[in-house]
Amino acid sequence: NKNVGILAMEIYFPPACIQQETLEAHDGVSKGKYTIGLGQDCMAFCTEVEDVISMSLTAVTSLLEKYGIDLKQIGRLEVGSETVIDKSKSIKTFLMQIFEGCGNTDIEGVDSTNACYGGTAALFNCVNWVESSSWDGRYGLVVCTDSAVYAEGPARPTGGAAAIAMLIGPDAPIAFESKFRGSHMSHAYDFYKPNLASEYPVVDGKLSQTCYLMALDSCYKRFCHKYEKLEGKQFSMADADYFVFHSPYNKLVQKSFARLLFNDFLRNASSIDEVAKEKLGPFSSLTGDESYQNRDLEKASQQVAKPFYDAKVQPTTLIPKQVGNMYTASIYAAFASLIHNEHSSLAGQRVVMFSYGSGSAATMFSFRFSDGQHPFSLSNISSVMNVEEKLNSRREFPPEKFVETMKLMEHRYGAKDFVTSKDCSLLAPGTYYLTQVDSMYRRFYAKK
Ligand code: ACO
Repeated sequence: NKNVGILAMEIYFPPACIQQETLEAHDGVSKGKYTIGLGQDCMAFCTEVEDVISMSLTAVTSLLEKYGIDLKQIGRLEVGSETVIDKSKSIKTFLMQIFEGCGNTDIEGVDSTNACYGGTAALFNCVNWVESSSWDGRYGLVVCTDSAVYAEGPARPTGGAAAIAMLIGPDAPIAFESKFRGSHMSHAYDFYKPNLASEYPVVDGKLSQTCYLMALDSCYKRFCHKYEKLEGKQFSMADADYFVFHSPYNKLVQKSFARLLFNDFLRNASSIDEVAKEKLGPFSSLTGDESYQNRDLEKASQQVAKPFYDAKVQPTTLIPKQVGNMYTASIYAAFASLIHNEHSSLAGQRVVMFSYGSGSAATMFSFRFSDGQHPFSLSNISSVMNVEEKLNSRREFPPEKFVETMKLMEHRYGAKDFVTSKDCSLLAPGTYYLTQVDSMYRRFYAKK
C-alpha cells in the first residue's frame, strides 16, 4: 500500500469555555500569567451533559456523515484516551453503537492509554494495520478523546477538552513517512493518575516540563539519525516546513521549538547561521542536565528561533491556544490548526510531529502532504472541520460558573443513579450528550 495516512478529519470541542484573562483575575494571579506566561487564550470544558464518550460519538458520526463514508467500510476503530470512565469497558465499545445498526460488528481495535500518547499509539495501530497482510481493504478510524481537568492551583488553567476523529487508508493527502520515526520511552512520575476515585492527575509540573524536553531531544536525535541513514544527508529544521508539538500550553511549544534549534546548533547543522552560532556559543559546553535548567539558554534560543517559529509553528497553535490541553487530541488539534490555516499551500510540504505522553512515551514522526481528491482533499478537510465557526459559536462562562461546574463534575465522577440537566441549549444540532447514568452505572446518550 502506498501513501498510507490520514484521509479525513473531524474535530469537536465543547462550546463551554472560559477566557484565560478572566481566570487570571478570578484566581488572583498576576495579570499575564496564563495568557503570556503559559501562552493560552481560552479553555474549553465539559459541562455535566458532555464527556469523552459523547464527544467521540459526535466526532465519529459527523466524520462519517460529512465525508459520505459507508458504515460497513470501517474495518478497524482505535481510541486513544486517558480519561477513565470504566476500568474495563473500552470507549471503543460505546462507539460500536454507531455501527451495530447496519450489522457491521466486524471492527477490530480497542482503547490505547498512556497519558497524552494514546492517540498516537492508536494512529500507529491503524496505519500498521493498513500496511499489513491482515488488512481487508477497509478504512481504519482513529479517535482521540479527552477531558483535561486539574485540581485548583497552578495546573488548572492548563485544562481543555476535545475529540478528534481521523480516517486512515492508502493514497492519503496526509501520508506517513513511516521510515523516519524516533521514539523515547522511559519510567517517570511526572504526571499520573493513581487515585482512581478522582479525575484529577497527580502532577509534578516542573518535572513534567523537563521530561517533555528530554524526550524531545532524544526523539529528535533518533529521527535525524534515521533520516540521515536513509537519505544520506543531514536533517535539520530547514528540512521540514512545519513542526507540530503536543501542546499542554503554548509556552512549552515555544520552548520546544527553540530546543530543536539548539539541537541543530550542537550538531553543527548547516541551517544555523553565524548570528545564531554567536548567540548560542556560550551554551555549547553545558551538560544535558544543566541545559534544561539554564534560563539564559532558554531566552537566547527562543530569541534566535523566533522568526522560524513564526513561519513553522505559529500556524499550528490556534486550536490549542483557544481550547487548551486536549491530552491525546492536543497534537492532532495543533495539526488541524495547520490544515485550517494553510490548506491551500501544503501540497508537497513536510510536517514533523512530536507526540508526548507523561509516564513516559514519546515519538517524533513525519507526514508529507498532497492536495488529495475530493472528498479526501486538504481543502475539504478544512471546510468539514469548520474551525472558525466552531470557535466563534462558543459560550464564555463567568469564573464562578466554571468553578461550580468543576465541583459538580467532581461529584459526578464515578457516580451512579443520576439524570443530567435537560438544558442542552448550548450544544449544536447533531451533538451527542449524556442523559443518564442508571443504578448499574450504565450510561445513556442522546443526539440533539
Ligand atoms: N506575566 C507573564 N508571564 C508570567 C507572569 C506574568 N504576570 N507570571 C508568571 N509568568 C510566567 C513565568 O515566568 C513562567 O514562564 P517561563 O516558564 O517562561 O519562565 C510561566 O509564566 C509559568 O509560571 P511558573 O510560575 O513557572 O509555573 P506555574 O506554577 O504557573 O505552573 C505549570 C505552570 C507547571 C505548567 C502548571 O500549569 C502545570 O503543572 N500544568 C500541568 C502539567 C503540564 O502541562 N506539563 C506539561 C507536559 S505533561 C502534559 O502534557 C500533561
